[in-house]
Amino acid sequence: MTSQTDITALWSKLEALPRPTLKDLFVADSKRVDALTGRIDLSEEEGIRFDWSKTHLDAAHIALFEELAEAVDFKGKRAALFNGEKINVTEGRAVEHTAQRGVGRDTSVDEAMALHARMKSLVEAIHEGALGEVKHLIHIGIGGSALGPKLAVDALTRDGAKVDVHVVANIDGCAMEQAIAACDPATTLIAVASKTFTTIETMTNAASALNWLGENGVEDPYGRVVALTAAPEKAVEWGVDETRVLPFSESVGGRYSLWSSIGFPVALAIGWEEFEEFLEGAATVDRHMLGHEGADNLPLRAAFADQLYTRLRGCQTRACFAYDERMALLPFYLQQLEMESNGKSVKVDGTPVDGPTAPITWGGVGTDAQHAVFQLLHQGTVIVPVDFIASIAAGDDLDPAHHRILLMNCLAQGAALMAGKDAAGHDGLGGARSYPGDRPSATILLDDLSPASLGALIAFHEHRTFANGVLMEINSFDQFGVELGKEIAKSIEKGNASFDASTNALLVAAGLV
Ligand code: F6P
Repeated sequence: MTSQTDITALWSKLEALPRPTLKDLFVADSKRVDALTGRIDLSEEEGIRFDWSKTHLDAAHIALFEELAEAVDFKGKRAALFNGEKINVTEGRAVEHTAQRGVGRDTSVDEAMALHARMKSLVEAIHEGALGEVKHLIHIGIGGSALGPKLAVDALTRDGAKVDVHVVANIDGCAMEQAIAACDPATTLIAVASKTFTTIETMTNAASALNWLGENGVEDPYGRVVALTAAPEKAVEWGVDETRVLPFSESVGGRYSLWSSIGFPVALAIGWEEFEEFLEGAATVDRHMLGHEGADNLPLRAAFADQLYTRLRGCQTRACFAYDERMALLPFYLQQLEMESNGKSVKVDGTPVDGPTAPITWGGVGTDAQHAVFQLLHQGTVIVPVDFIASIAAGDDLDPAHHRILLMNCLAQGAALMAGKDAAGHDGLGGARSYPGDRPSATILLDDLSPASLGALIAFHEHRTFANGVLMEINSFDQFGVELGKEIAKSIEKGNASFDASTNALLVAAGLV
């Protein structure tokens, strides 16, 4: 049994390691690219390449991080995750999103498959016209009930969708107005997606969507609603017919729920077979996660690098740039996944953490971001570890020059961040033209963007987030930090106006009291 003292000692050893530059690391090891590049095959035709060679991970760091993983019982915690043990201790829940893709405790997998069969029947019935002509779906949900569906639908339907999906999250009525303006009430279904079926934004938006249907000639608005929830009884009570309630298990966390019935809009838009490919892509990464140890486990290897930058080098942010218009929403998805999971200050046992936890996740799409924020990445005073994500196959049918230039730019940025440039002597003002270099990046290259590779990419990030949580000894699966603001908003609604002087004055200024 490893003691806390041993874990602290390992962190101290990691802190004390020499810090060779990236250039030195490449010079010292001619096989560095092979050593730090892994591949996950999704089929005979496609896979994903994960190149972590432009990070400062070296043999010494890896050896100590592997010891740390052993000391914090990574293997035991991974087994507990996949075996459906109640690892979310503060909420007394298991964490079983992997069961949704067929990997996990048998009973949970069976339950998930039965619920998927129910979802499949409804999706196919809708495609076959059982609910009349359906051209649009307004998917109403927020946080984990919106970000995944929005990303997957946007990424996978650029060539057309079986049903046109609009995701509405914000309580700001402008969001709902924009969606309804694009839909014909006679051919629109409403999906109400909420794990708890109590979230104020979602329930308010759902009521407005029903009003819109009713005011625009739909005789039975409730008959046009599908509920996606872990609280099916609440959906029935609210008025949705049981046949159109698609439940999922309480043990699937909100930000991990895309694989459950929360994925209904994705299945409706791309078709059931493709949705199954999406699940299978994720399952391939689950099997990789279970079958590889130490730095050969790619999500764990990525977490080693993440810890190197946040804990050992004090990086407060990490950035992700998809060089692919179809994945423009990925940073938003990753923000919730990583920041809601690992933005914590106490360990699983309730004691304070030993150092910084999740960095701020941010990012954008390449090449746009190069012309906006990359200045800081190259010459700013802070180090931002960057992930570049791209697909080797093009997503467009235009002149191949588009995709070639896109990929060349993506790879050029990683090279430039690492190499830097010394322009000293240039008119005496060389400093402005010099690049420090030695700035880290990782590159994730998809052979192609497909349902399978998107599923795999998301599952990779889920497991990376879990691995980071284990190394930091935190519970990645609760989110009490979101509650206080909700409570205060509720009490304002009840008429409470006695807060701090600033808030009291703002409440008056905004006309809320
Ligand atoms: O407030 C945060 C949160 O609980 C997220 O974790 C969750 O994804 C989101 O709200 C939506 O919750 P629900 O699916 O229950 O409506």
